[in-house]
This record gives sequence, C-alpha cells and structure tokens, in this order.
Amino acid sequence: MGGMAKIEPYGEFKEVAPDLYCLDGEWQESAFKRRMTVVRLKSGGTFVHNAIQLEDQDYAKLERIGTPEVIVAPNVFHGSDAHHYKKRYPKARLLVSKGAAKSIAKLCPVDGVLPAWDEALRSEVDCLEAAGMRWLHESLFFHRASRTLLVTDLIFNMQTDFKGFERKFARWNRIDKKFGPSRIFKLVFVKDRKAVSEFLSHVLKWDFDRVVVNHGDILDSGGRELFRKSFSEMGML
Ligand SMILES: [Fe+2]
Repeated sequence: MGGMAKIEPYGEFKEVAPDLYCLDGEWQESAFKRRMTVVRLKSGGTFVHNAIQLEDQDYAKLERIGTPEVIVAPNVFHGSDAHHYKKRYPKARLLVSKGAAKSIAKLCPVDGVLPAWDEALRSEVDCLEAAGMRWLHESLFFHRASRTLLVTDLIFNMQTDFKGFERKFARWNRIDKKFGPSRIFKLVFVKDRKAVSEFLSHVLKWDFDRVVVNHGDILDSGGRELFRKSFSEMGML
C-alpha cells in the first residue's frame, strides 16, 4: 500500500445487544473483512474496540451511541485506524497492544499499553491479555452486561463461501465454515502451550455466551462451550 490510506467501505452500526453495537467493514479487499465493536458504558460514553475509520459525517452516528472514552487497539494486526479516533476524541484513553504500540505512538499520543487496564472499567468491560504467544499480543475483552466475549484474531467464524485454492487453504487452516482458532494460529503464534492453556482457562472463567469475532459471523449464543470445544480439538486446552 502506498500513499495515503483510503477509508475502506463499511456498513451501519447495528445493535447486537443492549449497549453493544457492531459495524462491519471491508479490509484490504480480503474475504476476511473486519468488525468494530462499540460498548455504551454506564457513564454514557463508549468503549471502542478495533476502530474502523469513518467518513467525517458518520462520526455523529457513533456519538449517538456515546462519545468514545476508551479506544482499544487489540493486537499487532488491528490497530491501523485507532489514531483517527484518538485525534478526534483526544480526551479518550487510547490503550494499545504491545505489538502495535510503536507504530501507533508515531501517529498520536498513546495512554497505555495493554494489558494495563482502566480499573474503573473492569466492572463493565474486563480485559485479559493472551499469554504464551509470540508476536500477536492480543487482548480479549468481556462485556459483562451482554455476556459477550470480544476476540480479534484468536478465533475465526468464517461462514463465507471460499472458492478454489482459497477454499483448500481455508480448510487446511481450519477456518472454512468453522468457529475456532486457525491452524496457522497454532503453528505460528503459540510459543508456550502450558501458558496458552492457562490463559484459555482464565477466559473460560468469564460467563460469556455471545462471541464477537473480527473475521466472520457473530456467534449469538453457546460461545463458551464452543470456545472450550474448539481449543480442546486443537489440543490447546
Ligand atoms: Fe486479523
């Protein structure tokens, strides 16, 4: 990619559950796409996960949900647009993955590196950084009120029809119409199996039902059991 990054196409904010909104967008013309999540907090402000840059006139739609108070860049791969939000909402706290901290800090002030967390927020949205992995530096989030787990690249739920070679590759990668971690994830990012397994057990202490993924469909219910099943199938739990 050269020159100024253009704003990628995106849809409308959809209310997924009370105080939980998602907006889906295209991502680098790939089948994977991406998803931003906005949680309305008790303060009336919002928590913005995996920010997607909007056209100027569309920020009013976000502000109707609530003005951003906390902006999160959740892992090394998905922090490209967070600085647009920090510049527009300078009072918001921008908390970024360790993997993306350097590149984002060149673009705007960064208020903290995950898993450093806004403790006042923990009773509404909890945060846990994935352990035992290399490079990815992903943090997971749990919105207690809607019992929703927010993941970025740790789990896929691609229900699209991959074609030809893409389909063969998706099958091998265990992401063809399947909820769970990819084979690449296991091969590339897992460094310390025991630490990963302990981390996954911590995640399972959260009482989530819905899982919002970055790549693929939102899983509305049964998420905790499928989470457990998909990681145990891969021998990681
Ligand atoms: Fe991704």
